[in-house]
Amino acid sequence: MTLPVCYLNGSYLPLKEARVSPLDRAFLFADAVYEVLPVFAGRPFRLREHFDRLARSLGELRMQQPLTHAQWADVCLELARRNGGGDMYLYIQVSRGAEFGRNHAWPEGLAPTIFAFANALEPTPPQLLVQGVAAVTAQDTRWARRDIKSTALLANVLLKKIAADAGAYEAILLEGGLLTEGSSTTVHIVERGVIRTPPNGRNILPGTTRDVVLLLADRLGLPNEAVAVTEASLRGADEIWLAFSTRGLLPVTTLDGAKVGTGTPGPLFRRLHAAFDAYILELAGTAPL
Ligand SMILES: Cc1ncc(COP(=O)(O)O)c(C=O)c1O
Repeated sequence: MTLPVCYLNGSYLPLKEARVSPLDRAFLFADAVYEVLPVFAGRPFRLREHFDRLARSLGELRMQQPLTHAQWADVCLELARRNGGGDMYLYIQVSRGAEFGRNHAWPEGLAPTIFAFANALEPTPPQLLVQGVAAVTAQDTRWARRDIKSTALLANVLLKKIAADAGAYEAILLEGGLLTEGSSTTVHIVERGVIRTPPNGRNILPGTTRDVVLLLADRLGLPNEAVAVTEASLRGADEIWLAFSTRGLLPVTTLDGAKVGTGTPGPLFRRLHAAFDAYILELAGTAPL
């Protein structure tokens, strides 16, 4: 359920009343970047990492940072407060702004459009954790700069629909015989006790949840590495996980209809998932930045 209050260009207002120009370059060119971050009990999770990534995405678009991290933190906290606190997630988008003429090569000095809204974050349905989710594989048809968190998500949208049409939760993407990521998730596998996830680079988004998983694996003393994962390793994995901000970690128990490992969430998933929940509680009440 979308929550009622949004932020647009410095003001808090009812989402129903928010308006942007159809000449905004986000509308015409998807010339915009975004972040999605969870808020647990009113406290934004991994705020610094999300806004570091936003700054990086903006830099790749040759845009200035419209707000400092401290100002973003204020917007997030205020938006959470005005929407009743508790658990939710925030969507934040910065576009290059509106201009007349639809110029591919943008004129300098446009005022960016800054937009954020809040959405309810319902607890993960227990059956997703008990039974796991289905995934299908698909060829990665996206552009060459997947490290930029751009709103140009048409390929991701089409890939997610392939999964939905197959009754699956996610499309896990392959390129040149290697795993890249999911259409909106980072993928980890477990092979003979070792957690593996592809290294960051231009072909995947540097996932913030991915890094939490690796941090917690280190804390638990579980071997883990960022390394290329072949299609054969993916298909033969003992466990496959999806990591993403709005759900943390989910177990994939079938891939293209075949069981992953035993076909139930694996032992390392259960340890990491418990560690994730404990980590959120450990951070509760601490400063978000
Ligand atoms: C393509 C893609 N990869 C990975 C992720 C996971 O990133 P994060 O863990 O920062 O949410 C997302 C999140 O939306 C995504 O869209």
